[in-house]
Amino acid sequence: MIAIGSDHAGYELKCELVKYLKEKGLDIKEMGCMDGSSCDYPLVAKEVCTEVTEGRAELAILVCGTGLGISIAANKCKGIRAAVCTDCYMAKYTRLHNDANVLCLGGRVVGTGLACEIVDAFLGNTFEGGRHQRRVDQITAIENQ
Ligand code: RB5
Repeated sequence: MIAIGSDHAGYELKCELVKYLKEKGLDIKEMGCMDGSSCDYPLVAKEVCTEVTEGRAELAILVCGTGLGISIAANKCKGIRAAVCTDCYMAKYTRLHNDANVLCLGGRVVGTGLACEIVDAFLGNTFEGGRHQRRVDQITAIENQ
């Protein structure tokens, strides 16, 4: 399952992505916010990331205005490696090298077409392990300090 959430600034893009992913037949859990009313992205990040850290979601997608605030909040959650991506190369390599488990997008930064391609790149690649495992373990060690 893929969990997906946004704040108000990411709401429109989130709706487009939910539609896109459902059309592809993916198992999606759409989470807050559920309309364009102003809300607080840290709370959304925590709720969505909990789906990943408690094992219900394999990966998650978070959208705010820039992708930045919601990624900062997500990266405070233990076990989360959230990456803001503005192109497909970043989305591919954050899976291959960083084992990122949360993709963050800026609803005011990327258009729907590009966002869908970024999501495809993120979901379509898996961690390479090898030398990258050591580095991800080092990130986890920092988190555990
Ligand atoms: C909301 O106005 C905006 O600050 C938020 O969506 C996000 O861009 C924060 O980083």
